[in-house]
Amino acid sequence: MKKRNERTPEQLSLLVTGGAGFIGSNFIKYMLEKHTKVSITNLDKLTYAGNLENLKEVENNPRYTFVRGDITNLKLIDRLFRRRNFNVVINFAAETHVDRSLLKSSPFIQTNIIGTLTLLEAARQHNLGRFIQISTDEVYGSLNKEGNFSEKSPLKPNSPYSATKASADLICRSYWKGYNIPIIIARSSNNYGPYQFPEKLIPLMIKNALEGKELPVYGDGLNIRDWLYVKDNCRAIDLVIRKGRIGEIYNIGGNCEKSNIEVINFICNVISEEKNRDKEELKSLITFIKDPRGKAHDFRYALNSSKIKEEIGWEPTTDFESRLRETIRWYLKNIEWIKRVTTGEYREYYEKIYGKNHQKIRDSK
Ligand code: NAD
Ligand code: TYD
Repeated sequence: MKKRNERTPEQLSLLVTGGAGFIGSNFIKYMLEKHTKVSITNLDKLTYAGNLENLKEVENNPRYTFVRGDITNLKLIDRLFRRRNFNVVINFAAETHVDRSLLKSSPFIQTNIIGTLTLLEAARQHNLGRFIQISTDEVYGSLNKEGNFSEKSPLKPNSPYSATKASADLICRSYWKGYNIPIIIARSSNNYGPYQFPEKLIPLMIKNALEGKELPVYGDGLNIRDWLYVKDNCRAIDLVIRKGRIGEIYNIGGNCEKSNIEVINFICNVISEEKNRDKEELKSLITFIKDPRGKAHDFRYALNSSKIKEEIGWEPTTDFESRLRETIRWYLKNIEWIKRVTTGEYREYYEKIYGKNHQKIRDSK
């Protein structure tokens, strides 16, 4: 008889944590559609960022199970391992927003560090094929105008968010070296696509533009991010599960560097075309505010993804403008989703970051 970690990819039993969030929900739908014999247990605490509506299409799928719970709860995770014989864990669960981490870091320490440690401890007790830690390019810190980060670049995180993600990566490494837990770390750049919580740049700008509210740009808007379409990331993670080498790190970059202001201008152009709104009026909503992140605001990210390309054969799709247009159209069609996920908690958070305390530097003119 085959041992669990010798099963073919199609027969995998996956524990996905944080599957009700942005990337996790896209990943679950991608995997269930792509692999007809994969079964998935989604363990999610349903914080402000987790939303079961993101998984409506699969909620009745017999290969999908949702469990509400916290990744810091060892008893619960141990029970799930015993019942469901997971052969792969994919740990998406995290507190993910830099601005929130600067307001209060303790939930980040709890979930991102203690939660990852708890999952690794559970993995020690059971025979696991792979433990995929979903990490981020932010662990490398910030770049100037030149160069990019490879998997060998030093870790120099600048925010509590990135520091907790870097800590989790190091704990994963130690469990690989110390206990032979079969970890692989996947570090992606900024994702965009449907179901992203409207605290992040792209959905926040779309939401505000539709509501005729200010489009708040931190500092001069010239910070650069390397944008990756979420479905490209899902495809990369699927390949890493099946073909990645244990103990390795893989960068997953979009190869698509844009300044924030370029992205915001593009969003205004698309909304103006799609909703027949005056372009200049939309752009007049752009407001440059004092950077709430201060020195923790990384100037530029850019990933060198040649390792995953050479070893695994993954590359991102390149057409940023049409993918972003598609994404904007999704939000325009799902305005009710945006309204439902931005409850009272969101309004409180919004006020703290963008409220009166935050000085306007200049408007769009
Ligand atoms: P998200 O904020 O949209 O979702 C996070 C999910 O984790 C939510 O469903 C939330 O309920 C759940 N969660 C939080 N704390 C939990 C806990 N203690 N126990 C169980 N569930 C918990 O995040 P996302 O943008 O989908 O990011 C997913 C992962 O990808 C994170 O690990 C993040 O660091 C990483 N990442 C994200 C990006 C990006 O651009 N979004 C880029 C690189 C890496
Ligand atoms: P964000 O989406 O929070 O991702 P990251 O984790 O990379 O910081 O922010 C992307 C960029 O957009 C970052 O440089 C900060 C900037 N930004 C704004 O200018 N205004 C905003 O309201 C937000 C949320 C982000």
